[in-house]
Amino acid sequence: MDTQVAIIGAGPAGLLLAHLLQRAGIESMVLEARTREYVEHRVRAGVLEQGTVDVLTETGVGDRLHREGMVHRGLELRFGGRGHRIALSDLAGGRAITVYGQQEVVKDLIAARLEAGGELRFEAEATAIEDLDGDRPVVRLASGEELGCAVVAGCDGFHGVSRAAAPDGALAVYERVYPFAWLGILARAAPSSEELIYAHHDRGFALHSMRSPEITRLYLQVAPDDELEAWPDERIWEELQTRMATRDGAFALNEGEIFERGIAPMRSFVAEPMRHGRLFLAGDAAHIVPATGAKGLNLAVADVRVLARALRAFFERGDEAELDAYSDRCLRRVWRVQHFSWWMTQMLHRLDANDPFEGKLQRSQLEYVVRSEAAARTLAENYVGLELEDV
Ligand code: FAD
Ligand code: DHB
Repeated sequence: MDTQVAIIGAGPAGLLLAHLLQRAGIESMVLEARTREYVEHRVRAGVLEQGTVDVLTETGVGDRLHREGMVHRGLELRFGGRGHRIALSDLAGGRAITVYGQQEVVKDLIAARLEAGGELRFEAEATAIEDLDGDRPVVRLASGEELGCAVVAGCDGFHGVSRAAAPDGALAVYERVYPFAWLGILARAAPSSEELIYAHHDRGFALHSMRSPEITRLYLQVAPDDELEAWPDERIWEELQTRMATRDGAFALNEGEIFERGIAPMRSFVAEPMRHGRLFLAGDAAHIVPATGAKGLNLAVADVRVLARALRAFFERGDEAELDAYSDRCLRRVWRVQHFSWWMTQMLHRLDANDPFEGKLQRSQLEYVVRSEAAARTLAENYVGLELEDV
C-alpha cells in the first residue's frame, strides 16, 4: 500500500487532517485501531472554541454542529456557595464557545471522509513506523501489511505508537501528574443552568455541563485511584448536590438516569519537538492538558490546521520551510494552553487538604478573577481560544 500522508489514528486530529488534505488535493490514508462503532461512541470532550467551530464551518462539516450545538457566551465560577458569571463574549471580542460532543464531531468527519471517497480503515492497528530519517517511511500494521508514504502524521493519542517511534532521547518530555482524577457522567436530565458551572468546594471540584436540552454532563474531582465501583449513583448525586449547592439554597440540580460514566486521570504532558524526520506528531500524541480548561480537542484541531498548511506547501511547491517551522509554531500555542489549563486546574481543585495556605490563595485568586475585569478577560480570551496568529 502506498499514499502521500499516512495518518495514524481516527480521533479529531487524524480525521480533520485527512479532511483538510482531501480539500487540498493531497492523498492520505487513515489507519484506526478500533472499530467505527467504538470511535463514534467514545464520550469525551464537549467544548469547542470559536476557532474550532470556524474551521469545521469553513470546510463544510459544520451543518449539524450549527443545528444541534449550543452556543455559550458566558460561564459561571461558583465558590463559597455563590455564583459569579464571566461574560466570555463581552470580554473576548464577541467570540463564543459551542457545546457539542466530541463524538459528534468525529461522526461528522467520518461521514465527510467516506462521502468524499477517502481511505479510512478501521481495525487497522499500526504497530511500528520505520525509516523516518529517509524520504520514504513505512508504517507496519498488525495485519502484516505495510503502508509506504512521504510523511507520517502521528495522530494516535497519548497511548499510540507514533511518539515511541522516535529514537530514545530524540524527544524531551515535560510532565506533571495531578493527585486527582475526574469522574464524568451523562445523565438523562435537563441542564440545571443555561451555562457551564465550574464549582470550587472544600470537598473538591465539580463541573456542570450539558449535551442537549435533555442531557446533562457532570464531572466530579475524585481520588486518582478511585474505581467506578466506589461510586454508586446515590453517592455521585449526593456529592454533586453538595458541591454545587448555593448558600441561598436557590440552585436545584436536576437528577436523572446515569447512562454513561468514566474516570479520567489528570495530566499535563508535552513531548518536544513535535517532529522527528518525516514523522509529525499532532494532538494527544504530542501533548495532554488537564481537562479543566476544555482544551485537548481544540489543541488537536489547532495542530492539524498548521500541519495541513505546511503539507500543502510541501506537496504543491516542494517547500519544506513550513514543515520545518511546524513544531515551533505549534509549541507556542501548546505552552500557552498548558499554562491556562494548569492555572484553571490549580485554582479550582481541592489541592493539599493539610495545607490551608493553598486554600486561602485559591480563594483570593477566584475573588480577583470575578472582581477584576483584567483578570476575567484573561480567563475569557484563553477559554474561547486565541486566534492561530495571536499566539
Ligand atoms: P484521540 O481522540 O485519542 O484519537 C487517537 C486515535 O488513535 C484513537 O481513535 C485511537 O483508537 C487511535 N489509535 C491509537 N493507537 C493506534 C494505533 N497504534 N494504530 C491506529 N490507531 C491508533 N478536550 C477539549 O478540547 N474540551 C473538553 O471539554 C475536553 N474534555 C475532556 C473530558 C474527558 C473526560 C477526556 C478524557 C478528555 C477531554 N478532552 C477535552 C480531551 C480530548 O478528548 C482529547 O484531547 C482529544 O480526543 C484529542 O484528540 P486526538 O485526535 O489527538 O486523540
Ligand atoms: C466539558 C469538559 C471539560 O473538560 C470542560 O472543562 C468543560 C466541559 C464537557 O465535556 O462538556
